[in-house]
Amino acid sequence: MRQMFGVIAPRYDFITRVFSYGMDRRWKRQGVAMAAMPERAVVLDLACGTGDFSKLVAQRCPQAVTIAADLTHGMLRLARSSGVEEAVCADAMSMPFRDGAFDCIFIGYGLRNFPRLEKAVAEIERVTKPGGLLVSLDFFLPRNPVLRQIYLGYLFLNGAFWGTVLHGRPRIYTYIPDSLRSFVSIDDFSSILRRNGYGKVDARGFLFGGIALHCAAKR
Ligand SMILES: C[S@@+](CC[C@H](N)C(=O)[O-])C[C@H]1O[C@@H](n2cnc3c(N)ncnc32)[C@H](O)[C@@H]1O
Repeated sequence: MRQMFGVIAPRYDFITRVFSYGMDRRWKRQGVAMAAMPERAVVLDLACGTGDFSKLVAQRCPQAVTIAADLTHGMLRLARSSGVEEAVCADAMSMPFRDGAFDCIFIGYGLRNFPRLEKAVAEIERVTKPGGLLVSLDFFLPRNPVLRQIYLGYLFLNGAFWGTVLHGRPRIYTYIPDSLRSFVSIDDFSSILRRNGYGKVDARGFLFGGIALHCAAKR
C-alpha cells in the first residue's frame, strides 16, 4: 500500500478529479455537510491522502481541531504543504489514539484499502466518542449486473490509460476495480456499521450506486 500510494501521491489529486468527472469535491462537501459536529469538534481525517476532508472541515468549522492520518509519507507531505497542519503517520488498523478521542471521523476512499474491513471499522469505532460520527465516501459496485460490468470495465480502462500516460505503468491505477471486485455492497457496509456499534446509518448513492457516502453515529 505504502509503496503504491507513494508512487501515486504526486498525481493523486489530478487522478481523483479525472475518475470522478470533477464531482469528488462535491461529494466530499456533502459528506461534511451530513455531519452535525459540535463547534469545537475534534476530527480525524483517516487515510487522508492529500487532506481534502481536513481542508473542507476547516472551511466549514474553523474552530474544529482536525488530525489527518495516513500510512504514506508522500501523501502526508502533500497534505502538509497544502495547508493541513496536523498530519501524522498512522495505520488505520491500529491507531495511536485513545478510546473515544474523536467527535467525527472522515474516510475518503480508504476502507477498500484496509486489509480487514470489519476489524478496521471496530478500530474506528474505538477511537470515536459515544454519539460521534463516521462519514465514509467510497466506491461500490452498482446493483445492476450490466451496469456493474460496464463500471468495472470503465474503471479498468480509464486506470490503464492514465497509468500508462502518467507513470508508464498501466496497472498502477487498476487497483481501484481490483479492490472493488471483492468489496462489500452499499447495504452490506451499512450492516457492518450496525454490527459494530453504529446506529442512524444514512447511505447516499451516486453514479447509479458506483459511489456512496455513509454517515453513522456511534451508539
Ligand atoms: C485512495 S487514497 C484516499 C485519499 C483521500 N482520503 C481522498 O479522499 O482523496 C487512499 C489512502 O489510504 C491510505 N491508506 C491505505 N491503507 C492505509 C492504512 N492501513 N492506514 C492508513 N492509511 C492507509 C493510502 O496511503 C492513501 O493515501
